[in-house]
Amino acid sequence: KAQVFSGIQPTGVLHLGNYLGALESWVALQDKYSTVMYSIVDLHSITQPQDPQILRENILDMAASLLACGIDPTRSILFQQSQMKSKQKNEGSVGLYTYPVLQAADILLYKYSQLCSSCVLFLSRLYSQLCVRERVMLLLCRSTHVPVGEDQIQHLELAQDLARIFNNQYGEFFPEPRALLSGTRKVKSLRDPSSKMSKSDPQKLATVFLTDTPDDIVLKIRRAVTDFTSEVTYEPESRPGVSNLVSMHAAVSGQSLEEVVRLAEGMDTGQYKNVVAEAIVQKLQPIRLEIQRLRADRGHLESLLAKGAEKAHSLAAPVMTEVRKLVGFY
Ligand code: TYM
Repeated sequence: KAQVFSGIQPTGVLHLGNYLGALESWVALQDKYSTVMYSIVDLHSITQPQDPQILRENILDMAASLLACGIDPTRSILFQQSQMKSKQKNEGSVGLYTYPVLQAADILLYKYSQLCSSCVLFLSRLYSQLCVRERVMLLLCRSTHVPVGEDQIQHLELAQDLARIFNNQYGEFFPEPRALLSGTRKVKSLRDPSSKMSKSDPQKLATVFLTDTPDDIVLKIRRAVTDFTSEVTYEPESRPGVSNLVSMHAAVSGQSLEEVVRLAEGMDTGQYKNVVAEAIVQKLQPIRLEIQRLRADRGHLESLLAKGAEKAHSLAAPVMTEVRKLVGFY
């Protein structure tokens, strides 16, 4: 049975890369599939240092942002990863399929006493990350379609390997989850078009956030790194900067790359940047206002996530029971 699953880390505000690379198709898939699950993956996020209070705020802010983009809890299951997990008993049994990974984690972990404190911190993060990998599979369990940006392909390959290993041993049970890539599979940094746009970029002008004001957006796009050719063309290999503008413009305006390039005929990159900024502002302005509105009601967001966790649990629990049976852990 077709089932959609994807996740996002609650490590700050959504940016245009998340939106065009993943969120837009998350929203569209709600109309195409009956089982659609989206997770705010807080367990993944603690692989970086997190202040607990800020993490809690970020989780609720992420919920508000996802809703503002069009995630609809009546058509999809929106939940916080750790809430669902804490209810599952005996999940360690799945460790069997990731045995070497877990063994390495155990060995590393129990050597704590011999290590200095900074190593302890590092290892505890590593441990949580390794365990989380195992959980990715649990979550993906029986998911068939995974809408993600290009940077997630290797993680998905791991999940596919795990599914295959399990199936070889116990018979066909897990479908191999496959990536669904959007048209804009990789939005580039505005300051360095050889790298991807990211939440954690220390360069303030590199990333367009969904909460940016129109002035912020205009400034960032005007300062975007391009090259010394003034014409607007789409040549991602040789002209990554201007091509990134073209692909963002096409995506936010719903036009093809060719249409956008044709529209820009006769403009230099400076003039074109104004057009791109305007198109991005048009697209993001209503979302920004909606985020502001939704953010205010923390209680509502908390109760939405609690309901989502219930639903996610009711889907995952029978799968886990089945897995235990197949393995012989009655
Ligand atoms: P995360 O939180 O880094 O990113 C969320 C989604 O946004 C996409 N994305 C981009 N797409 C295009 N251009 C960009 N510049 C860009 N930056 C981010 C990501 O590809 C992703 O789809 N490990 C995952 C979360 C995760 C997950 C999962 C995903 C945990 N478990 C299971 C799918 C299935 C992550 O850190 O995404």
